[in-house]
Amino acid sequence: MQVIKSTKELDNQLDQLKKDGHQVAFIATMGALHEGHLEMIKDAKQKYDTVVCSIFVNPFQFNRKEDFETYPYRLEQDKALLIKNRCDILFLPSVDEMYPNKPKMDYKLGELSTTLEGEHRPGHFAGVVAVVSRFFEIIKPTIAYFGEKDFQQVAVIKWLVKEFQFDIKVEVFSTVRDSNGLALSSRNYNLSEEGKKKASLIYKSLEYCRKNYKKENLNQLLEKAKSILGEDFKLDYFEVVDEETFQTVKEANQIKPRAFIAAYLEGVRLIDNMSLI
Ligand code: PAJ
Repeated sequence: MQVIKSTKELDNQLDQLKKDGHQVAFIATMGALHEGHLEMIKDAKQKYDTVVCSIFVNPFQFNRKEDFETYPYRLEQDKALLIKNRCDILFLPSVDEMYPNKPKMDYKLGELSTTLEGEHRPGHFAGVVAVVSRFFEIIKPTIAYFGEKDFQQVAVIKWLVKEFQFDIKVEVFSTVRDSNGLALSSRNYNLSEEGKKKASLIYKSLEYCRKNYKKENLNQLLEKAKSILGEDFKLDYFEVVDEETFQTVKEANQIKPRAFIAAYLEGVRLIDNMSLI
């Protein structure tokens, strides 16, 4: 695996590979890799000639300093995992390399910036747009993988591809879960063993919503789902919205309802979502 830190060097390398007819798959990460990331790499490796993975903890997408400072960093373990999974190129830029100029961050994200993660993490999605659009400009991949675990982020990426007219296919990858249902996340590294067990209640509460969506009125459904979580969780939101418009679902016959949750456990912010049909 090549480890490349400079955008120029990466550009030169990829130019050559593309001239040789290579299709390039790109997987953006903030490191602290887990099976969710690795499954995407494995899938890309089977289908495309060259797999580029980035590790960059993007300061602009953190709306809380403490969250940025406590974000797990495990570069040596990550490199070993990438090599084991036959990643071709690891792009490991510095902040200066990524942002020679401070990004503008005044994107018109509409509902995406005022609902769910957009509402609860002001500026977060602008930071995601800034970093991913920069990655797309540098790498110009054939395809870029993003996980359904960050469902609203996928909508933001689709918006940016359209807005900036990138000729890049977006592959949406299903959420990879632990055997107990917990969605894998880098943030899980900051949970205790006990916390990891407890965190699977998030999955159980989403499953409750999915199974009972048509049977109960929405308020009742959400109240019961919240009660499954119990007192150890501090809820940011637990909502059912239409997965295309992100508008609140008021009636149980909405076309594409999806439940979204963000909650703190042991001070760690966890998110998950599930389609209810
Ligand atoms: P990160 O949380 O490291 O996630 C990198 C990619 O892996 C994202 O597309 C995310 O949705 C996906 N992913 C995370 N957990 C997953 C799981 N359990 N199953 C499947 N896919 C999963 O998301 C980010 O980083 C950043 O916002 C980034 C896009 C890199 C921009 O900085």
